[in-house]
Amino acid sequence: MEKDTKYMSDIHLGEYLEPYMGKQTDADALVFSAGRKRESLNGIWHYAVDQYDTCLRQRWFEEKYTDENGFTLPVDFSFDEWPQIKLPCNWNIVNERYFLYEGSMVFTRKFRCRREGTERVILRIGAANYQCTVFLNGAYMGMHRGGSTPFCFDITDFLKEDEDNRILLVADSTRRENQVPEKNTDWFNYGGVYRDIELLYVPKVYIKDFQVNLVPDGTYGTIQAKITLSEKISSKAEMKIEELGIRQEVDVIDGEGLSVIAANPELWSPENPKLYEAEVYCGEDRVSDRVGFREIKVEQGEILLNGKPLFLRGVSCHEDSVENGRALTEEEMTETLLLAKQLGCNFMRLAHYPHSEKMARLADEMGILLWEEVPVYWAIRFESEKTYEDAVNQLRELMRRDFNRASVIIWSVGNENADTDSRLTFMSRLAECAHKEGGNRLVSAACLVNGEKNMIEDRLEQYLDVIGVNEYCGWYTPDFERLPNLLAGSHPDKPVIITEFGADALPGHHGTKMDKGTEECQAYVYERQLEELRKIDYVKGMTPWILYDFRCPRRTSILQNYYNRKGLCAEDKKYKKMAFEILRDFYTKM
Ligand code: GCU
Repeated sequence: MEKDTKYMSDIHLGEYLEPYMGKQTDADALVFSAGRKRESLNGIWHYAVDQYDTCLRQRWFEEKYTDENGFTLPVDFSFDEWPQIKLPCNWNIVNERYFLYEGSMVFTRKFRCRREGTERVILRIGAANYQCTVFLNGAYMGMHRGGSTPFCFDITDFLKEDEDNRILLVADSTRRENQVPEKNTDWFNYGGVYRDIELLYVPKVYIKDFQVNLVPDGTYGTIQAKITLSEKISSKAEMKIEELGIRQEVDVIDGEGLSVIAANPELWSPENPKLYEAEVYCGEDRVSDRVGFREIKVEQGEILLNGKPLFLRGVSCHEDSVENGRALTEEEMTETLLLAKQLGCNFMRLAHYPHSEKMARLADEMGILLWEEVPVYWAIRFESEKTYEDAVNQLRELMRRDFNRASVIIWSVGNENADTDSRLTFMSRLAECAHKEGGNRLVSAACLVNGEKNMIEDRLEQYLDVIGVNEYCGWYTPDFERLPNLLAGSHPDKPVIITEFGADALPGHHGTKMDKGTEECQAYVYERQLEELRKIDYVKGMTPWILYDFRCPRRTSILQNYYNRKGLCAEDKKYKKMAFEILRDFYTKM
C-alpha cells in the first residue's frame, strides 16, 4: 500500500478500499481453537460511528500525531476518549441511536500480551458483519469478508512485549450487490463484531486443524483422525480417546497425519447424544474436542442415521433475539433448542447463514440434528468470480469450524435461487466443495418449485443428496389445491425435505381460519399442509418456517410492524401461537 503523505490527498481517493482488499484472510488461515489456552478480548472497547470510512481513508490506525518535522498534526479521532461499548454486540441493539445504522464503526482497545518464549499469538474473531479490517499497533493485519464465520490472524510479529498493544477493528455492515448475501434479504442486517474476540496462544509449531469422525463405511467400528500442523514438518502425534481406550500414535509427514483406528464407540444420535473427549498431542501442542460418532447417508430414498431410516422432524430458525439481535447468549441458544425439543423436533434448520458455533456444540450435547447454511440467498451476483470466492470461503470457514460436530448432518449451499445457468454453475461448484471438504454430511439447498409446471424440479438437484423445497401453498400461493397436485405430480429421485411452509400470524390476533394474519389462519395452513405432506413417501423431513417471529425491515403492515410473523412463537420465544400445538401434535404422534 503506497504511503499517502499529503493530508489533503485522502479526500481525493475514490477507490480508498482497494489497498486493503489485497490482504484478505480466509478458511486456510483458521486455527483449530477447541481445548486451547486462550485470552478473551471481550469487554469494554472504545468506538466511533465512521459513516464516511474516514479511518480507512485517512489511516487513523497509524496514529500520526506529528509530521516528519515534529510539527503537531490535527487529528479527527480520540481513540481512548471515545465512548465505550461492550463487545461482542450488534450496535443496532445496544444503542437506539444506531438501530438503523448501516456502515462502518471503529472499535479500539489496548491489551497486554502474555506470550511466553517462542509462542505465536493468533487473533480469532467469531464473526463480524459484514467486512472487518484489523489493525495492530498501526500495522494492517488484513480484512475478512463474510458476516457469520470465524476468522484468524497471526499477530505475533506485530505485538509489543511488556507494553500496551493497540488493536483497532473497523466493522462495515454495508450491504453490497457483490456480497453474500446481496443487498436484499428477508432478515435484519445487524452490524458489528458480535461473536467472541480472543487470543489463542500456540507453540511455534502447532496443530492447525484436527478432524475426527466415524468412517462412514457402515461398520460403525472405525474412527479416522486427521491432523494438520502449521508447518510442513514431519513429526509424531498422539491421539487419545481415554473412554475408548484409544492411544494412537500418528505419523505426521509434511505437516499432515492421518490415522484410521478400530474402535467400538457408542453411536451419537438424538436419542443418545453420546460425546467423547478426544485429545491430540504433537510436539509442544495439545488440543481437545468433545465429539460424537455417527454416520449419515442416503440410500434408496431414505435418510439413514447409523443405518436406520429417520424422518427429520424439524423447524427453521433465524439467529435473532429482541434483546441481543444476532449476538445471542448461550442461554438464548439453549432456550431455542429446548423450544424445538418441546415441539417434538429432532432436527433444526439454522437459516440462512452460519449461526454461532456454540449452537452446534449445544446441539451435540442435547441431541438435535442440524442443517447449516451459507447465505447464498435469492438474487446473488452468480456471474461474478469475486462473489463466488466470498461464498465458497464462507462455506469452507463454516465446514472447518463445525467439522467435528456430530449434530451437523447437512450443509446447505443456499436458499430460493432462480434456476439460471450462472446460478447452476455457481451453486454446483459450492456443492462439489461441500462434498469434498465437508466430511460425512449430506449436501442440500432450499430450492424453489417450478411454478409453471407446478413440480419439484430444479437443475441443481442432481448435485444434491437431499432436495430442500420451499412452498407456501395456503399463503403466498393461496390456492391450496396446488399442493396435492405439486406433490403427486413430482417424482424426485432422492429424499425431499420441505424446508419452508407457513403463514404469518400476529400473536394473540384471532378471527376465522380465512382471515390472513390470525392465529386461526396460520393453524389452518399447518393443518392442511401436514394433511397433504404426511401422505408423501419421498418427503423425509420438514422444517416449517419458522420457530419464532424475527425482525425484518420488509414487513411493515400493521400486523407485522417490522417483524416477520411466521413464527410458531412470538419474538419473545415464550408466547406459543395455536399452530405450535398443531405441529407438536403431528410430531409427537409420528
Ligand atoms: C422465503 C425465504 C425466507 C422468508 C420467507 C417468508 O421463502 O426463504 O427467508 O423469510 O420465505 O417470506 O417469510
